[in-house]
Amino acid sequence: MTDHASAKIEILPVDGLPEFRPGDDLTGAFVGAAPWLRSGDVLVVTSKIVSKAEGMLIRVPSDPEERDAARRKLVEDESVRVIARINRTVITENRLGIVQAASGVDASNVASGEVALLPSDPDASALALRNGLRERLGVEIAVVVTDTMGRAWRVGQTDAAIGSSGLRVLHSYAGEVDSQGNELAVTEVAIADELAAAADLVKGKLGGTPAAVVRGLRLTDDGSTARKLIRPIEEDLFRLGTDEAIAQGRREAVLARRSIRSFTDEPVDPEVLRRAVGTALTAPAPHHTKPVRFVWLREEGLRHKLLDAMKASWQADLEGDDFTPEQVAKRLSRGDILYDAPEVVVPFLVAEGAHTYRDDRRNACEHTMFTVAGGAAVQGLLVALAAEDLGSCWIGSTIFAADLVREVLGLDERWEPLGAVAIGHPAALPPARGSVEPGEGLLEL
Ligand SMILES: Cc1cc2nc3c(=O)[nH]c(=O)nc-3n(C[C@H](O)[C@H](O)[C@H](O)COP(=O)(O)O)c2cc1C
Repeated sequence: MTDHASAKIEILPVDGLPEFRPGDDLTGAFVGAAPWLRSGDVLVVTSKIVSKAEGMLIRVPSDPEERDAARRKLVEDESVRVIARINRTVITENRLGIVQAASGVDASNVASGEVALLPSDPDASALALRNGLRERLGVEIAVVVTDTMGRAWRVGQTDAAIGSSGLRVLHSYAGEVDSQGNELAVTEVAIADELAAAADLVKGKLGGTPAAVVRGLRLTDDGSTARKLIRPIEEDLFRLGTDEAIAQGRREAVLARRSIRSFTDEPVDPEVLRRAVGTALTAPAPHHTKPVRFVWLREEGLRHKLLDAMKASWQADLEGDDFTPEQVAKRLSRGDILYDAPEVVVPFLVAEGAHTYRDDRRNACEHTMFTVAGGAAVQGLLVALAAEDLGSCWIGSTIFAADLVREVLGLDERWEPLGAVAIGHPAALPPARGSVEPGEGLLEL
């Protein structure tokens, strides 16, 4: 493929176009105003006149507040997704898939009391104008329909192509080599957008010249249209505004936690695990106490010693329950996750600071209060790990072997194990959660 640039181009204003109203003959107006069009030209047309001729004008109330409300409603109706709200500006993906301010709803260069929507299918509008001009002037030209857009990382707006016909909209340099011998692996020039911006230098924004002709380009046509310039959502690294992305992250943090029971060999970053434990320890607890401790079994020998002892004790319990050897083996294998997980953390409750009452009932309630605080901290750990892309599973078994756990780990009787948490990088992620409606889990009295 050759370079897309031309040695020299001209940009010619199309003067003498009328003020368009719905139903006007756009092609006829260009036949009258630009009989000098030549094959190979690119006719660049502001979408506003296409909208007007195609009747995409909406009446809005004259009262400023009512007008604002009507415009907001139109922006919403024209959008399929709100990307970001920044002060009074709403960035949306509109029904054409274009991401821009206010869904392209615009009051500039239209009569007061009206706003213009974008043409319903700007590629089709470009094709119709191109076909009409071929028929009536006998010229083979390309047509670009433009709108003015902001750029995410740069101040100021430029014109971009929202519709086109008759030109290759993207010129890819993949595999080409520059004069210094460098391969241009990713360069892809958005020619239709460059044409839109170049023509705007002649058209201007104050309405007098809504179209210009770019002459002198060596154009090729691969049948592509401006729709091809819309980045597919799966390739869009910034599909939400920053505030919206943070808000979504917050909303979904708890949902990101799932019980993950198989892990890759990738080691867990100790700093990440420490950070997650620190976050977990911010969980609420009674009487301003800090009753939760996490014991991280970093020494493999110690982990195995604990798990082997728990397994033997569990086996004895199960055999006493009259299970068959197969059933016992099957149940014991459920504990394998704690052998296999890259990391294991054992949460404990140390209910220091609990109040003591003269009756057992209140002492038991007090203890329950501390136990639930332990649960809150463990859930906090699981959520914090999930937010760091780490998988985890809360395994209850240490609760059934509290004395043994204390003995193997050398902890005194105040330490009550609350299970164990297997941690690692998930081997696979479970399917996304479906509905999070509370259902019978919420009783509204
Ligand atoms: C206190 C407690 C003990 C648990 N013990 C085990 C266990 O021994 N083995 C296991 O595979 N999962 C265990 N789980 C995880 C539950 O099975 C899991 O949360 C449940 O299946 C729901 O799946 P989800 O966590 O992906 O939402 C335990 C959960 C809790 C809260």
